[in-house]
Amino acid sequence: MAEVVVVDDAEAAGSLVARHIAARLEQQPALVLGVATGSTPLPVYAALADLANQGLDLSSVTALALDEYVGLPQAHPQSYRSVVTREVVEPLGLDPAKVHVPDGDPAQIETAGERFEQRIVDSGGVDVQILGIGTGGHIAFNEPGSSFGSLTRVKTLTEQTRRDNARFFDSVDDVPIHSVTQGLGTILRARHLILLAFGESKAAALAASVEGPVTASMPGSAIQLHHHVTVVVDHAAASELRERDYYAWAQLNKPAWQGI
Ligand code: PGA
Repeated sequence: MAEVVVVDDAEAAGSLVARHIAARLEQQPALVLGVATGSTPLPVYAALADLANQGLDLSSVTALALDEYVGLPQAHPQSYRSVVTREVVEPLGLDPAKVHVPDGDPAQIETAGERFEQRIVDSGGVDVQILGIGTGGHIAFNEPGSSFGSLTRVKTLTEQTRRDNARFFDSVDDVPIHSVTQGLGTILRARHLILLAFGESKAAALAASVEGPVTASMPGSAIQLHHHVTVVVDHAAASELRERDYYAWAQLNKPAWQGI
């Protein structure tokens, strides 16, 4: 079972996860960090940026993005290449040569999945993967029905995902229909998964993912198959978890030597 940590707000979650990553970096400066996009991971990046301003050196980190829209030019402000550059690479002082995002160029999309899988292998595999969750339960752009064995490939976005992401565009019609996304099988190979969720709108998908049946209809439930998962959520996102009291009890009694 995943470890579930309920915190007061997104800022507390960001600081918890950033401190964990900083501690990992002390052991392993060339950490391979899996970076998610969207609003959820922003507090983690903000807290890491603060630590970087205080002297934390992230220049040896390799960062691998989860996904990319198909057909948005890389320079488009909402391409995940641009988002990762703006929200992660620049504020954290990462080396751009060590930052990789799946290639959403339609001219070479047929090989994009395979090339990105090879990139992950060449990097030595993801040590810590940050994840958000969609309101419909997707992780990365693995929409309901995605195979637990899936690798990086093109995936069609649901209408719900396009509506959810329309806030980043002028209108929902501007949200691309296709993405190239790490598969659930890819994500399950990362050594440690940290899934974050904030707000009421995530509560149902989060509860189904953490406590519901393991099913491809709820892609987030794939985390139940992983040996090291930390779920960090605020009270609103935790509100539909049946075992909330147990998670709090486990945190209170957590052995001092055990990190997340
Ligand atoms: P959000 O998206 O972090 O912007 O809520 C999460 C997701 O769609 O995976």
